[in-house]
Order: sequence, then structure tokens, then C-alpha cells
Amino acid sequence: KTINVDIKDVLSTVSRDDINRLEGEGAEALDKVLNGTGAGSDFLGWVNLPTETTEALLDDIIACADQLRATCDTVVAIGIGGSYLGAKAVIEALSDSFAAYRPGVQGEPKVLFAGQNIGEDYLYELQDYLKDKRFGIIVISKSGTTTEPAIAFRLLKEQLESQLGIEEARKRIVAITDAQRGALRSLATEEGYKTFVIADNVGGRFSVLTPVGLLPIAVVGYDIRALIDGAAEMEKATSEANDQNPSFLYACTRNALYNAGKKTEILVNYNPKLHYFGEWWKQLYGESEGKDHKGIFPAAVDNSTDLHSMGQWIQDGERTIFETVVSVEEQKYDKLIPSDEANLDGLNYIAGKHIDEVNKMAELGTRIAHVDGGVPNILITLPALREKYLGQLIYFFEKACGISGYILGVNPFNQPGVEDYKRNMFALLAKPGYEKETEAIQARLK
Ligand code: PA5
Repeated sequence: KTINVDIKDVLSTVSRDDINRLEGEGAEALDKVLNGTGAGSDFLGWVNLPTETTEALLDDIIACADQLRATCDTVVAIGIGGSYLGAKAVIEALSDSFAAYRPGVQGEPKVLFAGQNIGEDYLYELQDYLKDKRFGIIVISKSGTTTEPAIAFRLLKEQLESQLGIEEARKRIVAITDAQRGALRSLATEEGYKTFVIADNVGGRFSVLTPVGLLPIAVVGYDIRALIDGAAEMEKATSEANDQNPSFLYACTRNALYNAGKKTEILVNYNPKLHYFGEWWKQLYGESEGKDHKGIFPAAVDNSTDLHSMGQWIQDGERTIFETVVSVEEQKYDKLIPSDEANLDGLNYIAGKHIDEVNKMAELGTRIAHVDGGVPNILITLPALREKYLGQLIYFFEKACGISGYILGVNPFNQPGVEDYKRNMFALLAKPGYEKETEAIQARLK
């Protein structure tokens, strides 16, 4: 089984010819991704990553995860952006919805996240929670210099050392960073932490299938080999410039829609476990394509929840949007709607049906309504929320993102725009080296 992409519900907005016209550019874009002939080609390490991931690396990650599982009831994964969202997305997609409240249920040890915000209360409450926990830390930063995770790590390192002593704490800290550069690398070397390397040629948002994503996922106990196998299947299925290549088809279709004035893409799920997958996808596409004053704006909704909030806008607001629906075919458990003799709630007409059948009718009914209302729909079906299919889906979106960015005419692998806020923040905080910027920004604020 594999994921499937269906574009028939965009054809009332763009024709097959509109899409086919982009196939030449799409083929060139795919060639750039596969052969490294486009902008940002030193960041294409993710392209062959699934088929090139060695058994030795997977063994090392699993052994490290087992070690943390044996010594910790809680592991805090510290990181932001690409050093956070992939692991969070996969863990949420695979976990029991109430794992956080049920010790001993799937998801033990708990993996918590930090360094993905600068919330004082968040960090206070996290440290308070960890007071009586046997916790460990996975600190992840490719550059090794990002402020948010550095703050969280400073706090949690100090806490772990005071709870366990410096020597024991060192055994419970794993650092994932650049092979040589950055403050985190120097710190890890100095302290003698176990480390994993993020290769130079893999950008943050393309790093979920490296130790960045794989270690936290393995700590919860999920099958990272199946995740990589699924991605490897997709790597093989996305190497040719034709409609059998789902990434190629998706990339050409979304660019045809963009050219037709559809400037916002909404990733839609009908499964609450996919909320963070939407967050991961937003980063992947937003940071890769939003450049040179161009690019589809990536948004996401969780249905049917958001049908009761954003549903009105999507059905009836400005017609500049399209949707990409991620539909999960099979659920893990069976739950039927019970019959009730009194039928006071009037629900007996669906008694005996699977909850998911109702959900699927909400999904189908919504897709029909949205298409009728002028919102083209791309439909991606996922056989089930399992490691292998998530691996397929991740790689499918990554490959499509590279192709799509090149069709758009941007470098999909840099992110120059995220430096601006950092420069201002450092100036405002009077970071050494930013004296001139501090002076300028203070003058401006007077
Ligand atoms: O995709 C990216 O490159 C970014 O989102 C980074 O992942 C994010 O800024 C975190 O960077 P780092 O891992 O260097 O701390």
C-alpha cells in the first residue's frame, strides 16, 4: 500500500493543459533536485537520505534511545523549527491521544519539548514538572547557536546537574548538531556528551529523517526502520518526471493553481493526530517558498473542528485559496455509534455506524461543498497512521517542495528572511558584536 494523490477536484479551476504546460519546468526542477544543478544545491543531502541511511546509524540511534528509555521516565527534546517539528509531528501522529495523562500507556518514556518558544511560564512549569522526574535531554541545533534552544538547555542542564550531579547528568544528555561548528558542538565535546551529527548538506526543515527526528521518535518506541523504509519507497517512486511520480504531480498542480490566482494552500486533516503534521508542512513550504515576494502561503486546518470556525471563510470568503486534504483511510480501533431506544438526540439514523464513517461523510460532503464553492481540492490518501506511511508522506512532501520551489523560481533551501528578527532581537538585547545595531534601533524607538 502507498499514499495516493488525486487531482481531479482541481480541474474545474485549472485544466489538464494548464498543469501539463508546467511539466517542462517541472522536469527541469526535478532534474535540479536529483542532479544538484539548481540554487542551494549544497543542501540536497536529504534527497537520497532514505536509501543511504545505514543500518549502523539506525542501530546507534536505537541503542541510544534504549539507553535513555532505560534510565529516564521523561526525555525533553530541545529544539526549534526543523530541529523540533518533524519529531513532534510523527510522535503526535502515532501516539495515544491521552498518552500525556496516562503513565504506562504507549508513549513511555514521555517525550516533552522545549526550546521551541521563549515562554517564561512554559519553562518555569516544565522545570517544576521535572522536579521529581528521572529525566534526560536531547538537545538539537544544527547551527548550535540558536537562542531559544540555548536558553532552554542552559536551564535544564543546570537542573539535571543539580538533581543528579555532573557526572550522571552527562550520561543523560545527547546532543545533535553540526560535526564541527557551533557552541553546542564545543559544549558537547567539553562535557563528553553522546552526539549525533546533522550533515552539512541537510537543512533543518528537511532533517526529520536524520537523528534530529529519528532519536526522539525512537525514544518513544516507534519503529524508525519502518519510517525510513517508507521514505525509501517514496524516494524510488519520485525519480521520474511524469504523473506516476506523486511529488511531481503535486508540485505541478499547486503551481498551476498559484498561477491561476490561488495564493493560499490549506492543508486539511480529518484526524486530530495530524495537527502537528500540518505545522511541520507549514514550515517546510513556508520557509522554502516564501521568497522574493513570491510563494503560496501555507495554512492548515483540523477538521471537523475547524469547520465550525474557519469553515465559513473557506466556503465563502475570498476565492484565492485551494485545499490539500490528507485523508487517512483506516483507523486503528473500532468504535460504533450505539443505538438508543428513546432516541431523544435523534441520532438513531447513524446508530451502528463506525465513527469514522461519519467522519468520512463529513470529509466528502465538505470537499464537494468546497469544490462547488470555488475551492479546488487536491486529495492525498494515506492508508493508515503508521510509521511506513508517514515516512512515505514526509518524503513525498519534501521532494515535492524541492520541485515546487524550483518551478516557482526561488532557492528552496535557504531562509534569509528569518535573520531579520534575530538581528533586531540581538540589537535590543545588546548582544556583544551588535553595538551599532543597538544604537540604531534605540534611536528609532525614541
Ligand atoms: O529549517 C531551518 O533551517 C530552520 O527552521 C531551523 O531548523 C531552525 O531555525 C533551528 O535551527 P538550528 O537547528 O540551527 O537551531
